[in-house]
Amino acid sequence: MFKILSRREMAQGTVVENVIEAPQIAKKAKPGQFVILRVNETGERIPLTMANTDPERGTITLIYQIVGKTTSLMKTLQVGDALMDIAGPLGKPTHIDNIGTVVCIGGGTGVAVLHPITRGFKEMGNKVIGIIGARNKELLIMEDEMKAASTEFEVCTDDGSCGYHGFGTDLLKKRLESEKVDLVVGIGPVPMMKFVCSVTKQYDVPTLVSLNAIMVDGTGMCGCCRVSVGGDTKFACVDGPEFDGHKVDFDGLSQRLAGYMAEEKVSMDRFTA
Ligand code: FES
Repeated sequence: MFKILSRREMAQGTVVENVIEAPQIAKKAKPGQFVILRVNETGERIPLTMANTDPERGTITLIYQIVGKTTSLMKTLQVGDALMDIAGPLGKPTHIDNIGTVVCIGGGTGVAVLHPITRGFKEMGNKVIGIIGARNKELLIMEDEMKAASTEFEVCTDDGSCGYHGFGTDLLKKRLESEKVDLVVGIGPVPMMKFVCSVTKQYDVPTLVSLNAIMVDGTGMCGCCRVSVGGDTKFACVDGPEFDGHKVDFDGLSQRLAGYMAEEKVSMDRFTA
């Protein structure tokens, strides 16, 4: 069992942060890796990327959006409650090197995934430009943490309630026009990552994305997380979760993510009944 040590609601209760006791995972985890958890014995297995790890305290931090039955159930758990099992760390860590200037752009709970990667690139001596965005000020998450993890930092909101009034891709474009950028890391909802990649492609800047495919085993056996990258079938759990964004078939990924919507709705209706 994995005990919840702290709990915080963010983005008007649509996102929850749990710090969880998981010493073995905390010891090994690297930026970009994820875990697969089950809330209880009959629970589905869901992948979540770690927003933070503390090997000394033996904890991992998970930040998740309430999107369906499992995350709704997780939201009901309080400090002192426990998750049934957590497997990890899984997936390949982000390849972090000293390459020059890196733009780390995130949206939604993708910011939680982006945070350790941003910090990792800065610690490696890169100039890191952090850009995060949300629909409005209330939905922004990890603003302070991302600011601390970046060399330069910008915020944007769709309604202008905080920072730049507009999309993160506008800020990204300005950066790409004004300075040499060696790598862009874009993590967020699929349409956002697709848009980031269409912008960076125009400037021929390598771009990494982290794919939130549906997963079951997380070890490359079930095929559930398959994605098309450069025309090849890849498994997000073992070949990723990060891929060259210019080669990812985002439309195929969106279709697969929507593949169980009817079942998810039935499950949610039963949960709330
Ligand atoms: Fe089963 Fe990736 S989750 S192959």
